[in-house]
Parts: sequence; C-alpha cells; structure tokens
Amino acid sequence: MKEQLKALRGTKDLLPKEARLWTILEEKARAVLNSFAYSEIRTPIIEESTLFVKSLGQGTDIVEKQMFTFLDRGERSITLRPESTASVVRAYLENSLENEMGFAKLFYMGPMFRAERPQAGRMRQFHQIGVEAIGSYSPYLDAEVIALLAALLDSFNIINYGIKLNTLGCVKDKEAFANGLRQAIGPRIKDLCEDCKVRYEKNILRVLDCKVDACRNEIKKIFKGTEEYLCADCLTHFETVKKALEGLKINYKVEPYLVRGLDYYTRTTFEVVHAKLGAQDAIGAGGRYDNLVADLGGPAKGACGFAIGMERAIMAIQDIPELDGGLSLYIATMGEEAYELGLSLVMALRGQGISAEADFEGKSLKAQMRTADKLGAKYVAIIGEDEIKNHSITLRNMGTKEQSVIPERNFVTEMERILIK
Ligand code: HAM
Repeated sequence: MKEQLKALRGTKDLLPKEARLWTILEEKARAVLNSFAYSEIRTPIIEESTLFVKSLGQGTDIVEKQMFTFLDRGERSITLRPESTASVVRAYLENSLENEMGFAKLFYMGPMFRAERPQAGRMRQFHQIGVEAIGSYSPYLDAEVIALLAALLDSFNIINYGIKLNTLGCVKDKEAFANGLRQAIGPRIKDLCEDCKVRYEKNILRVLDCKVDACRNEIKKIFKGTEEYLCADCLTHFETVKKALEGLKINYKVEPYLVRGLDYYTRTTFEVVHAKLGAQDAIGAGGRYDNLVADLGGPAKGACGFAIGMERAIMAIQDIPELDGGLSLYIATMGEEAYELGLSLVMALRGQGISAEADFEGKSLKAQMRTADKLGAKYVAIIGEDEIKNHSITLRNMGTKEQSVIPERNFVTEMERILIK
C-alpha cells in the first residue's frame, strides 16, 4: 500500500464546515473593522529576513528560534512572515502611504508561520486578524485600538475574556527599566531558571514573564512595576489610556509583569486572555511601537496595533452555531430527460443568485434525497416520470416536509418568490 501523505506537523486543513465558520468570522470582523474606519492591506507572505530581524529584535524568541528562513535561488535570505506588523510598516514606507493616507488605519487577515513546538493553540502555520494604526502618538488611539479588539471578540461571541494592560515607557524608560532590572537581578541570578539566565544576558525584560514559580517569586521580591521607571510624559500617556478605557467602559487589569516578546514595543502593551485556552491563553495581543517606522528608515511616527490569533479565538467562542452549507435548492431527478431539465433549471436558478445543486453520481432518488439533507438544502425539487409527463415539478420544503406541485414554466419565478424575499 502506498504511504498516505500528511499535512506538516503544526499545520492543519480547514475542511468545508470549519472553513464556513472562518468565513463567517472574517465577515463579522470586516464589518467591525469597517465601522472603525480601517482599510485592508495584503502584503506578501515572504519577506527579506532582515525585515524581521531589524523589527522584532535579534534576541527575541521568534528571531532566534522560530523563523522559517531559507535561501532562495539567488542566495538571498527569505523568511515566511512570523507576524505582520513589520511587513505593514515596510509596505507603508515603500508605497509612501504617509502621503496618500496621512494617518493610516490598516487591517490584515492571513497566515503567519513560526517554528514552535506544536500543542493545543500553538501551530506552525496559524492565522491572525490584525490592525496597525500608523501616524499618531495619541493615547486615545491606544484606547480605541483596545476597544476595537474587544469589539471584534464581542462580535465573535467570545465572553469572559480578560484584558491585561501595561506600559513599557519610551526607549529611554525601557533602558532605565532594563538597567534597573539587571542590577536587581544580578545578585540573585543563580536562583533563576536556565532560560532566565539566558534572558538576563540577551533580553532582560523577558525575565518578568517567566512562568517558572521559583523565578516568579524572586521577581516579585525585586520588581513592583514598570511605573517607577517611567518619565513624566509616559506616565501621563498611561494615565490617559486608562482613563479613556474607563470612559469607553472597557474592563482591563494592569499587569506589571506583562512585557511581550517583541522588541519594537514602547509605552502601552496589552494582551487578551481566556480561561478556556489553557497554557497558550492569549487570544490576541498588541501595543504601541513608536520607534519602528523610524527604525525601518521612515520618519518619526507613533503607531499602535494588535493581532488576534484565529485558532485561539475559535477555541474561546461560547456557542459555535451549527452551520449548514446554505444550499437553497437540490433538484432530484429520475431518468435522463428529467436530469437534463433539472440541470437547466439549476443553471437558471444560479443565474438568479440562488444556490442550487443536482446529482452528479447517478444516484437513486432516495440517495439524492439523503444528499440534499446532508447539504442542508432548504427545498428539494423532484422531477420523475409523472412530472415530465405533466410538465410540472414537485417541490418539498425540507423544514416543514410540505409538498406542492408547480407548473414547470413558472418554476424559476416561483422559486425566486419563495427564496428571495
Ligand atoms: P503576538 O503576541 O506574537 O503578536 O501574536 C498575536 C496573537 O497571535 C497571539 O496572541 C496568539 O493568539 C496568536 N499566535 C501567536 N503565535 C501563535 C502560534 N504559534 N499558534 C497559534 N496562534 C499564535 C504579534 O504577532 C504582533 N504582530 C501583534 C501586534 C500588531 N502588535 C502590534 N501590532
């Protein structure tokens, strides 16, 4: 027997039923994003590796361990995008969106790739719905971005999520904060886990969100929050964000140990978590990145954004509705003549925007009825010998099981009347 080929570890097929749910969620998201005045952007899935190294930071887990990077035929280093913030900023600069749009509110949906060890809620190919608002330093933008994240989760029927909020301060504050931590942790470094010893050298802030209990306890003793390192402007910014969120009736909890795994963040950072998710509990996350546009060669521009992980969002949905194929009509026929008539009616109905299907496998009438049921057809039209003789069509309402007979010549208009109200 030939060996069955399989999808790669950490990747997944979305079969029709699941794909239907995704389409519905994407449509809901588009409606919400539209109402917040965001425009869609689609960037390539592959980029020069340098883009991510420069944006996310050399010492981050993603850049160090998780990028799918390869040399193309011209020996250039290419990476499958692990996230989209960097790509969107690149596209914003490359296409001079600053001139065209000024302040730009952009959203994206699509696959991202990280070579992580797969587990529940952690994939190697996963999907994000994300936004990037580029060109404003206003703290009200941070609040609106968080409100948008909440509105999207609400539209998906996700309840009981928690919003964790923190601030990292500006680049200078982050430096002071890193130095302060380094000094405080130095004498205790031997008590921390091996990972934290590496973080201490390479990416000190990540020591704060270590999940190991011993490390957590040590950190709690020496670190009370980022606020003691903030300059006056960053403190005011954070206070305004919090006040604006309260004004918008968005519940949040300040989480001083939230630092996030990407170097580009400054000031506000946030994460949305849900108890249904287990170890990988973040449905979405984001924050401000006021230096990234300039770091990638552009002008100084404040920016803020987030991304929701679709797979995780779906795990957190309260009641997933039963989704049928949405087929309006199935035409069940017996005999060649009936089949030909059936097919021409199916085509005429489709021309009117009605979803319709016929049999392509030579099934018996009974089996065709079963298929209609499986496809979730609202109506079945039956064309057998009698119908051909009488130039009529028997119509069965699959919900009520009622049957009626319709003259063949009126059939399309009658179906339009019934189905397109
Ligand atoms: P992130 O926290 O790396 O941020 O990812 C955002 C979300 O993507 C996570 O909260 C999670 O739901 C989902 N996610 C991440 N990795 C995986 C994975 N391996 N499997 C399944 N889901 C995953 C970013 O990507 C930033 N670009 C967000 C952002 C936009 N910040 C500012 N603008």
